[in-house]
Amino acid sequence: MNARSVILTGGAGYIGSHIAVLLIEAGYEVVIIDDFSNSSPAVIDRIEKLSGIRPQLVEQDLSVPDCVDGVSAALAGRGYAGVIHLAGLKAVGESVAQPGRYYRVNLGTTLNLLSIMEKIKCNNIVFSSSATVYGELNPPPVDESGKIGPTNPYGFSKLFNEQILADYAAANQGFQVINLRYFNPVGAHPSGLIGEDPKGIPNNLFPYIAQVAVGRREALNVFGDDYDTVDGTGVRDYIHVMDLAEGHLAALKFALEDHGGGVACFNLGCGRGYSVLEVVNAFAAASGKEIPVKVVGRRAGDIAEIVADAAQAEKILGWKTQRDLNQMCIDHWHWQEQNPDGFA
Ligand code: WQD
Repeated sequence: MNARSVILTGGAGYIGSHIAVLLIEAGYEVVIIDDFSNSSPAVIDRIEKLSGIRPQLVEQDLSVPDCVDGVSAALAGRGYAGVIHLAGLKAVGESVAQPGRYYRVNLGTTLNLLSIMEKIKCNNIVFSSSATVYGELNPPPVDESGKIGPTNPYGFSKLFNEQILADYAAANQGFQVINLRYFNPVGAHPSGLIGEDPKGIPNNLFPYIAQVAVGRREALNVFGDDYDTVDGTGVRDYIHVMDLAEGHLAALKFALEDHGGGVACFNLGCGRGYSVLEVVNAFAAASGKEIPVKVVGRRAGDIAEIVADAAQAEKILGWKTQRDLNQMCIDHWHWQEQNPDGFA
């Protein structure tokens, strides 16, 4: 059976939609599983507009206990090259306030997905993991052998998922897991047709700044300027979402080369960190808009600095980032300016 179909859980989301466009352009058939809890149905139309092909949609919350049979039936009749698993909750600060919800959703989706993969006989999974598994135990830059120590329930949920997948691969000969530890995804497709549109008040820095620039928010609250960093504000390794999407296609290609199963892990980042204030200045320059800021207290669960060593992804996957901070800001602003109210 033609194994050119790829399942994208959370595929209507920010990162998923960018991956969907690239997968379709690469000749894959895409099946999106999404419940639109943090995304909009309009994204499916935009993916079709960009790629010329409408992905199949299975509208489902994968964390719901009894969804396995229904989803498996909806997926039957195709050969699947692999699954790219993005569905989950992803805000550090929110996870500190709602740990039960984060573990229930982020672990429940993965456990159900593994049962579905068994039923549809698919043995390849690319998992959206996170740099937050490293915590602040490693001097920057951190590579994949870095000490592991999340500082918040979001990071622990990603670490627990990595463990679940590793145990599953050990028990199922030929099952291939690729963990991609994202640093900080930002930016948007150059067309401005898809981008980051979080529901409610943005948890993350870039979408918040973009909403200040477009006039939806008054000022950016800077969560602490007393960290041991270049200017006292948090330093992160921001990665353009197009680079990140390309990294997923490189990981899928690696998984399809039949390495006999097992687990591989890659950092996806630029290897360069920027502080909150450096990002504010870069975004102001790219958008031509003033970004008022107000320094407030630290956010629970935050760390001072984390920057990727992504040499392994370059060596094994032949992937490295191509876009710099200025391009991230230009593309993020282009999306926000064209869609001031998001996908509304
Ligand atoms: C970045 C910096 C904040 C908002 C993210 C994602 C998570 C994971 C890792 C993939 C920090 C500061 C933020 C604001 C601020 N990605 N900040 N004011 O916390 O690194 O985590 O990347 O797995 O999904 O959440 O990103 O954008 O929330 O924060 O000062 O209004 O900006 O303190 O230093 P974070 P972030």
